[in-house]
Parts: sequence; C-alpha cells; structure tokens
Amino acid sequence: MTLTHIQLRDRFKTFWEERGHREMPPIPLVPKDDPTTLFTGSGMQQLVPFLLGETHPLGNRLYNIQRGLRTQDIEEVGNNRHTTIFEMMGNWSLGDYFKEEQLEWCWEFLTDIVGLAKNKLYVTVFAGTKTIPKDTESFMIWKKIGIPESRIFHYGAAKNWWSRAGEPENMPAGEPGGPDSEVFYKFTKVFHSPQFGPKCHPNCNCGRFLEICNSVFMQYKKQSDGSFVELPKKNVDFGGGLERILASSNDNPDVFLTDVFLPILHELEKTSAKKYTDLKNKPLMRVISDHVKAATFLIIDGVMPSNKERGYVLRRLLRRALVKMNRLVGQNVQSSVFDAAIKSTLRIYHDIYFEEGKDFRLVQEIVQQEVGRFDKALQEGLKQIGKIDRIDGKKAFDLYQNYGFPLELTEELFREKGQTMNRDEFRKEFEKHQNLSRSASVGKFKGGLVDQGEQTIKYHTATHLLHQALFDVLGNDIRQEGSNITSERLRFDFYSPRKPTQEEVEKVEELLNKNVSEKLAVSFKVLPKEEAYRIGARSFFREKYPEKVKVYFIGSYSKEFCGGPHVKNTSEIGQIKIYKFEKIGGNIYRIYAK
Ligand code: ALA
Repeated sequence: MTLTHIQLRDRFKTFWEERGHREMPPIPLVPKDDPTTLFTGSGMQQLVPFLLGETHPLGNRLYNIQRGLRTQDIEEVGNNRHTTIFEMMGNWSLGDYFKEEQLEWCWEFLTDIVGLAKNKLYVTVFAGTKTIPKDTESFMIWKKIGIPESRIFHYGAAKNWWSRAGEPENMPAGEPGGPDSEVFYKFTKVFHSPQFGPKCHPNCNCGRFLEICNSVFMQYKKQSDGSFVELPKKNVDFGGGLERILASSNDNPDVFLTDVFLPILHELEKTSAKKYTDLKNKPLMRVISDHVKAATFLIIDGVMPSNKERGYVLRRLLRRALVKMNRLVGQNVQSSVFDAAIKSTLRIYHDIYFEEGKDFRLVQEIVQQEVGRFDKALQEGLKQIGKIDRIDGKKAFDLYQNYGFPLELTEELFREKGQTMNRDEFRKEFEKHQNLSRSASVGKFKGGLVDQGEQTIKYHTATHLLHQALFDVLGNDIRQEGSNITSERLRFDFYSPRKPTQEEVEKVEELLNKNVSEKLAVSFKVLPKEEAYRIGARSFFREKYPEKVKVYFIGSYSKEFCGGPHVKNTSEIGQIKIYKFEKIGGNIYRIYAK
C-alpha cells in the first residue's frame, strides 16, 4: 500500500506528540522580522534565538512541518529529485535530549513508522576539520543501533556540517551551526542514471541514493573572530524531506510520482494531451509542476511579481514555467494548462495550506497577468533571435538578461538554426552577474536579529514603538504588513485606508522620540495565546501563533507578540528620524527610520 502524504503527516505528528513534543506552528515562506534571508528555507528559521539560548514558550521539545523554498538549485529542477518548493518535517530539542535519543528516534520513525526497509538505509557522520572535532559519538550510536560499518560513511564539512549559511567559513558571526548526520535511501532500481558501480557511496550523485533526512547537532556558535564556541545548551535540529520520504516509501526516486505532485502531472497530461512517460516531456512537466506549485505558495504567502528580491524570484519561476510550457504545448493552450496546475496544487494541500475554492481566483489572476506580460517579451526575444546570425555567449547572456531567456532555451533555438553556442562565454558573463548578486546577498546576511548586534536590537524595539504610534495617530484601521531591519535602518510596511498626511507622519516621529525620552522599561512575559489577545497585545495577522506566546511590554505604552530580543530600556535607542515615507501599492505605505 502506498503511503499518502496525509498519512505521513499524521504519523509524524503522533510520533513526536507521544515523545513529549509540542507542535510549533509553521511560519510563512516570507519570514517576518528576519532580513537575513529572502525565504523560509528550513524548519529552524524561526528558532534561531531559541537555539542560541532563549527560552521557547512551548518548551524544549518541538516539532512541525514547515513549507520551504530554495532556489539555489533552480537549474537542477527537471531531474527526478530537485524541487524549489518542499516541506520539511522537523523536530527539535532545545537543550534537552541530544545525539543518542535523536538518532534512535529517527531510525525508529523511518523503519517502524514509515516502514522503510532497514537494509536500504545508509548513514553519514561528520569527519571533522582541523579545528572542529570528528563526530565519533554519532558513529558509535549508529553502530549500537545495528547499522553495519559498511553502511556508515564519514564526510567533511561540505557534506556533514549544517548552518543556514552552509560551511563554517561562510557563517556570519552569531549564527548557530553544527555537525550533522544524514540518512540516505538506496533504491532498488535506478531509473535515470545507471552508472553506479561497486565504488558508489551515498554522496556520489549516481542517482541510486537519495538523502532523506538530516539530524543537525546545533552545538556551536560562530564568534566575530571566526572561532567557534560551544553553545551553553546543546540542541537538535532535525529535518526530513516530506517528498523524499514519500519517494523512498515508493522505492522510486522520482519525487514527482508521489501524491504531492502526481495529481498535477495528471492535470498537465489531460490539458496538454502529452504523456509524462515520454522522456522528452518529463523534464518540462517537472519544471512546470514545481514552479507553478512554488508560485502558488508564494502568492498565498503574500509575494507579488516584481523586479526585486522576492518578487523577482516569483517572476523567474513563472517565466521559466512559461518557457517550458511553450516547449510542451506551443503557444495556444497555455492558460488552461496553468489553471489546471494551480487548481490541482490547491487541491493537494486543501485544508493544510489552502482553501481550494477561495484561493484559486487570486493565484490565477496574478499568474495569468504575469505570464501574459512575459509572453510578449518572449515573442519579442524570439524576434531578436531571428535577427542574430551568429550567436556568442555575450549575446546569449543579453537575451537572458533582457528577455528572461534561460540559457538552455537560447541553445535549443540556435541548435534549430544549426549553430552551437559557446557555453563558457555565457558562463563567464553569468558568473560576473552572479558575483554581483552574491555580494548583495552576503550584505543581506550581515544585518538583522541573527547577529543580535546592538544597533539591530535597538531598531527592533523602535519598530514596536512605531507600530503602536501608528495606531495612536492613524486609528485602529491600520495593520502591519511587514517589517525589515538591518543594522543601518528600520523599515515598516502597513495598510491604511487613507494616505497619512505629512503632519501625521511628523506626529508619529514626535511620539517615538517622546517614548525614547521617557526611558520606558522593556520586559516580556510568556502568556497563553488567548490571554495575550485579551490584553490587547499587537500581533501580525499573517502569522499563526502557538498556544503559548512571548509578549514584549514597553512601559505601559506597547504590548506585542514577539520572540525578541529587545533593549532593556527605550533610552538606549537614541533619537529616531523618519527619513522616508512612501506609498508602495494599493493602500500600503512604507516608512524608513534611522
Ligand atoms: N535544518 C536542517 C536542514 O535543513 C535540518 O537540513
């Protein structure tokens, strides 16, 4: 009997509840108050302050299933395992149990509860670096569990170290990380790349193995001099790929054949009259189903297509989907195929993330508008291609830049004209561009609550003051839409039914500075969610809160749901200046302050 995603979710929940864990509500794909990253890419995203030692209101044993988006490997989508959108099943110990319980429970879950055959599972442990010791404990625990040494592999930091920024040297100061231990499933048959041989191993990319989960032992914090200190409390951060565990339970490495993708493929087959089993359609249908699904999640979590940051990621996903759609069905039946893919995505996750009936219109409208617009650029780009009689890497890159043409499409089109393109030249141009965006994202990683820099914490408290001041000046109809803090400034987006006047903005600034000069004490209490609402603590309407929440109080002036951290007294904040105020859409306004 095939395991369904609903059964897998239920079993996971029961398993951790029985072991004293509380469910931590998942966060949206766009993390609030965390400028360090564009998207939620792992379950531990919301846990950073708690992994660093703060007390979590729900206790020391937590679990959830967190939707995540990672676009680093976007070019790989099309093979049987890579997706941009995924769900991670996670459990955490915050200074409670450690390696022994974690690895035993992980094993019990995969074998007894999911039912994976023991002899198909391989594990990996951290081999150590010059400065960070080898993880012999995990090795011994796996042996005790009964895994033969021939199925336990050691790897260095590139494979068996986990932090949000990757390897130890890439981590910013203040970021938690640690060695990890992964479990791989070995498939009976390899469908796409049968080059495995006697020397193949879990990380060798032959296609026979699939990493299905990872137990991270978050025991270190990076310091500003680059060294690592042990955290006062040692934590476990576990993540299991929901789609990949389902694929393993099918003993088929194609994650698109699990029930979180298969209904989309069926719809694509019906509306396009093309077969997934046809090898040339497979990668196209995989990209379309992944990207439309990711776009649906992003739109429901509040992202709109744009030329910047999150909006650009959404735009790129939809463009890539459209280009593949063009290849799959030509230009005519596209909108019905898009609609079908959106509908079946909503149906798969109905009641988990979406309300099928209610959400369709919004997603459809944004997707159709966006692809409609790009379709024009695509046709324009095709015309330009018609004019080029010799293609080189620079020109291919221009097409990529100006019309959003992915390289493989350009190559394909020129191949049809009997020309080959120099990939290296394109790569060179591309890398120049990538280095630029990489340095931009490194800059991003610097600020924020993760480094817990003094200035950032000040801005964080000032954000609470600003939130309350906006209510005081503009009335109860306003609503926070988002906020973003760097070590240089704070930014706050809010909804207001009418445009605030210049005088009102000045009044807000005055109130902010008044509260700073009144030297208000800042403190927090952990309260049941209902009580926090009852006392009127401000919350963020896009977020689902757990049963117990932390509420920060600033004197008697502001009360707000928040994980922290904050300054101890508003006098630490200093003078605040609102230096920019603008309308960013509909009735949404944005304030910048220093
Ligand atoms: N946070 C860990 C990961 O994403 C579990 O792999």
